[in-house]
Amino acid sequence: MATRKNSNIAYKIYAPVYDRVFAPTFAEGHTRMVEALDAQPGERVLEVGVGTGISLRHYVAGVRVDALDFSAAMLKKAQKRLDGGEVAADVTLHQMDAHKLEFIDDTFDHAVVAHAIAVVAEPDVVLREMMRVTKPGGRLVIVNHYKEVPGKLSRAWDPVRRRIGLGKNFDLLQLLQECGLQVVSDDIVNRIKSRLIVTRLP
Ligand SMILES: C[S@@+](CC[C@H](N)C(=O)[O-])C[C@H]1O[C@@H](n2cnc3c(N)ncnc32)[C@H](O)[C@@H]1O
Repeated sequence: MATRKNSNIAYKIYAPVYDRVFAPTFAEGHTRMVEALDAQPGERVLEVGVGTGISLRHYVAGVRVDALDFSAAMLKKAQKRLDGGEVAADVTLHQMDAHKLEFIDDTFDHAVVAHAIAVVAEPDVVLREMMRVTKPGGRLVIVNHYKEVPGKLSRAWDPVRRRIGLGKNFDLLQLLQECGLQVVSDDIVNRIKSRLIVTRLP
């Protein structure tokens, strides 16, 4: 699909500068996302669209994280982070399309997606895949920049944002409801006013 390809090319370009350009802005979201997930040693977590792996240092030792991304260039950066000993948790990286998760049903205790649900081509497909591989009652946490009612300018800018891999606006809360996810909390984090939404699987 064209948009998936565009996103992959864009992240090849962003990978070398990603940590310097985006990490400071996203930092609070990553810290609070992992806190909200509250994964305990022995539990298994899925992280979708892990990018360069900035969030990984927040997981505690003993948590098993399967972190995936479409972009080989972003994953190479994440692997460097692991090799550098920055991460306490037991992390396995996968190059994988979030629309087609290569895990069997109910594999994970919890799942997260940071700044990536609006970037993927079909957020509904990705959310349903995340739900499929997460156990009933597990927490699914989302951090994303999100406009509830996008203005005219924002809507006009959307196709460009999509082409350059920066995501699009859509009604995330409605999608969560359609998927049957129960919203436990909904907060604003970081200076670009991203939303941190904690949900629970039925
Ligand atoms: C804005 S970055 C967020 C990275 C990281 N989660 C963070 O918060 O810094 C979006 C990430 O989603 C990944 N991505 C986009 N489409 C994807 C897909 N279909 N499957 C897996 N990852 C995808 C991109 O390669 C990119 O690394």
